[in-house]
Amino acid sequence: MMIHARYEDTQLPMTDEQLVDEMLILFIAGHETTANALSFIFFEISRHPEAEQTLRNEISTLGEAAFTPDSLMKKSYTLNIIKEAMRLHPPAWGIDREALEDDHFKDYSWGKGTQIILYIGGLHRNPKYWTDPEAFIPERFDDENARNFAYYPFGAGPRLCIGEHFAMMEMVLIVRKFYQLYSFKSSHDQVEKKALVTLRPIKVSGKIVKNPI
Ligand code: HEM
Repeated sequence: MMIHARYEDTQLPMTDEQLVDEMLILFIAGHETTANALSFIFFEISRHPEAEQTLRNEISTLGEAAFTPDSLMKKSYTLNIIKEAMRLHPPAWGIDREALEDDHFKDYSWGKGTQIILYIGGLHRNPKYWTDPEAFIPERFDDENARNFAYYPFGAGPRLCIGEHFAMMEMVLIVRKFYQLYSFKSSHDQVEKKALVTLRPIKVSGKIVKNPI
């Protein structure tokens, strides 16, 4: 699709260099983030058997409908689990910007060229906005107003992640397919993390067991 894509204004294709750059962005922005999110999701499910049971009930109640594009994107307990795991462990833990001009906001002011980092990981656990912020409570996303929370795993505004819906759909599909048949038992109580460009677990080890049917 990218080879055949044409720019709307010039009708020209991308150069080979642009094509490679675009593919790298999709791999790095799209693969690493989702893989890290899934590791944290599997870890949190393993630490919360009651959440795992509710998830499995949802999968078996939905039957084959659990895997239709429509149902993957609908409000569900599976989605709640994914959102809550990304609240506690946002793969994009910080978003950076460089000021193009001298600027100010409320009581703050800064000069041109200042690097500003929005600490998403801190915001997601700020007790001013979240009740019991350290706890894993998927049900908090049942709230109809959840989208107004201090919650930005995919950023916001003009640079909002272009892969948000793709990533959510992919993660719901993987979680449902996996937990339909298997369970993951983590061998750790805590997950050690490393905040690089993305937030990644240092190690999530454990064993995969087949679910009794
Ligand atoms: C759980 C998975 C993902 C997370 C947590 C995530 C997070 C983010 C965040 C926070 C941003 C905004 C960065 C900023 O404002 O500086 C972003 C941008 C972006 N994401 Fe994602 N992302 C994910 C999956 C994906 C996928 C699957 C794709 C592609 C298929 C993708 C492609 C991009 C691209 C191209 C941008 C740059 C958009 C722009 O600057 O206009 N992401 N992502």
